[in-house]
This record gives sequence, C-alpha cells and structure tokens, in this order.
Amino acid sequence: MTTILVCDTCRYSKAEKLHGEQTGGEILAELVEKAAGSGIRVRRQSCLMGCNNHCNVAIRAKGKVTYVMDRFKPNADSAAAITDFAAEFTKLENGRVPLRNWPEGVKGHFVSRVPPIEDDEK
Ligand code: FES
Repeated sequence: MTTILVCDTCRYSKAEKLHGEQTGGEILAELVEKAAGSGIRVRRQSCLMGCNNHCNVAIRAKGKVTYVMDRFKPNADSAAAITDFAAEFTKLENGRVPLRNWPEGVKGHFVSRVPPIEDDEK
C-alpha cells in the first residue's frame, strides 16, 4: 500500500499562510484525497519539517524508496501530478520511478529520495 503524506500545516503561499480559513496544506490534502486512486492512501501530517518551502509531501511504501517533495501550489494540477506519480510508484517493486514516467508537474519538486529502511537489515 502506497501512502502519500501531505503536510496540512504548510502555507498557502510565501505571503499568505491561510487562504480563507484553510492552510495551503489543508487545501492540497483535500485535493490529493479526491485524486488518489485505489491502492493509495492519503495521510495528513502536521509539519514534515520542510517549512521553508510549501507545500510538502512524501510518498512511501514498505520496502520501497521514499520520495520527499516540496514547493507545490495547493491546486488541482499539483494534486494530479502527485497522485499520478504515486500511481507510477505503486506499480514498481522498488518504487524508483524512471524519469520518462514522471508527470511534468512533479519535475523540480524533489527534495530527496530515501532508501527503504529494510535495506539496513541486509
Ligand atoms: S508546516 Fe509544512 S513542513 Fe512544516
């Protein structure tokens, strides 16, 4: 099972923390929850410690690499890119999505790719 962690306390923009009553992270989390397909769960997390850049997400699954991404605008295009990438990630045994399969909307948003914790036990 793939999990998309969405920081729900991230700012809406550099200038605004809130848009209406919601943080940017809450808006993005709602959109990602709507866009996520089967086999993908979405969890909200208050702060992923990447607060200098909003909005932050992580994609992970047992036995796979973990991707951390930031600088998303909280909108439907970002949510579609994140969930499309998560769908590609879900198809692969190790989660290493080849560049040719990256949706345009995730390019330039990667912070890190962390090896699976299970590798520590080898
Ligand atoms: S508030 Fe989103 S990473 Fe800290």
